[in-house]
Amino acid sequence: MTSSAPDTPGRLGEPIPPGLLDAGERMSVDELRAHQLARLQATLRHAYDNVELYRRKFDAAGVGPEDCRSLADLARFPFTTKADLREGYPFGLFAVPMEQVRRIHASSGTTGRPTVVGYTENDLAMWADVVARSIRAAGGRPGHKVHIAYGYGLFTGGLGAHYGAERAGCTVIPASGGMTARQVQIIQDFRPEIIMVTPSYMLTLLDEFEKQGIDPRGTSLRVGIFGAEPWTEEMRREIEERLDLDAVDIYGLSEVVGPGIAQECVETKDGLHIWEDHFYPEVVDPLADQPGADEVLPDGESGELVFTSLTKEALPVIRYRTRDLSRLLPGTARPAFRRMEKVTGRSDDMIILRGVNVFPTQIEEILLRTPGVAPHFQLRLSRQGRMDAMMVRVEARPDAPAEQRAAAGAAIVRAVKDGVGVTVVAEVVEPYTLERSVGKIKRVVDERG
Ligand code: DLL
Repeated sequence: MTSSAPDTPGRLGEPIPPGLLDAGERMSVDELRAHQLARLQATLRHAYDNVELYRRKFDAAGVGPEDCRSLADLARFPFTTKADLREGYPFGLFAVPMEQVRRIHASSGTTGRPTVVGYTENDLAMWADVVARSIRAAGGRPGHKVHIAYGYGLFTGGLGAHYGAERAGCTVIPASGGMTARQVQIIQDFRPEIIMVTPSYMLTLLDEFEKQGIDPRGTSLRVGIFGAEPWTEEMRREIEERLDLDAVDIYGLSEVVGPGIAQECVETKDGLHIWEDHFYPEVVDPLADQPGADEVLPDGESGELVFTSLTKEALPVIRYRTRDLSRLLPGTARPAFRRMEKVTGRSDDMIILRGVNVFPTQIEEILLRTPGVAPHFQLRLSRQGRMDAMMVRVEARPDAPAEQRAAAGAAIVRAVKDGVGVTVVAEVVEPYTLERSVGKIKRVVDERG
């Protein structure tokens, strides 16, 4: 049998062949809304009947599954938070007997207990389907090789991407995170078309290519599917230019399923289509913590993303508060599904500096527009007397001329003052001196005690 090479991955401007859309993607808006309502009613019933915490919370709010007659009625139900998941640690929110749970994942839990999530066989199949759909939307096709450098383990990134890529008919290279020099060797030798990795670890891999004297633009990689942390349009430009590939965004969180809740389509690169047949989105005022219809913001307004699972069995989540800030926009490349704008940050990553709200992504945008500095940076918070202070530490680009490098610090201070409205100190440090990411990067070092 002769094997034919797969098509080149889809590119910007090239719509997906209609034959590659699955049944969910072919639904009209009316069909989708009918599906969502039926699935929402079943999920509320399942959660109420099988999870003590939901029963308690619904009862306290005076609502029951039978009160959901339209999608708008969802606003009457209470939110679920990370604290609820922690309260049920480890398995208290599971809605099925343990014999039906096929897999467990957990969030790293930097503070307190980790949050634990479970999947039935159907949940795992649904998850693989939405990740496969995401890979196709990114331009992946059967026969492509997918290098997965998200960590494998309790983190949902590696295994989530893995089973989705297999489901999409791709050949999986399960590299996981770390052993950077070897990753570069594998990319050179196995010639994957697609890489799935955090954008910050992609930068670490880029350094390694350059260290080994390899031009990253000459690799086989054509599409990068980047997520698990916020990244900006400026970062997209940087990565696309240095690697000569299409960089698209994938979003997800373990409490809802893992990667594959929403995905940017390669042909438009205009925000992420939410796979709404499985995850129902709302945007609420980030300060609202009481149930009530009036906190749901209309589409187009910025706030905190909230998701309700529509098809999950082991761990149904009702109105889960993500803390991620974004807004809902109408569908484009997949017209029936709404888009979410690229996440600007988490409400708990927000730095309040002398009364001004600052997100690390705002600093990233400025640094990537400043000539002579690299996309490697760290924000240090300290207390000087009674005032908070922020130092922006950023590496010089190895090839930056001395005068450009000397001017960069002052340029950053000025741009942050003009663009964000706060005064910071900027320090341009030697190339390759800041710690590199092997997964999710930590941008902020808080020394305020
Ligand atoms: O990070 C799942 C994932 C893996 C998504 C691989 C995409 C790719 P958690 O460890 O539970 O799950 O962390 C979820 O990461 O609430 C966001 O704050 C952040 N996050 C995830 N994707 C994006 C993204 C995985 N595309 C938390 N843009 C979420 C911005 C993201 N932030």
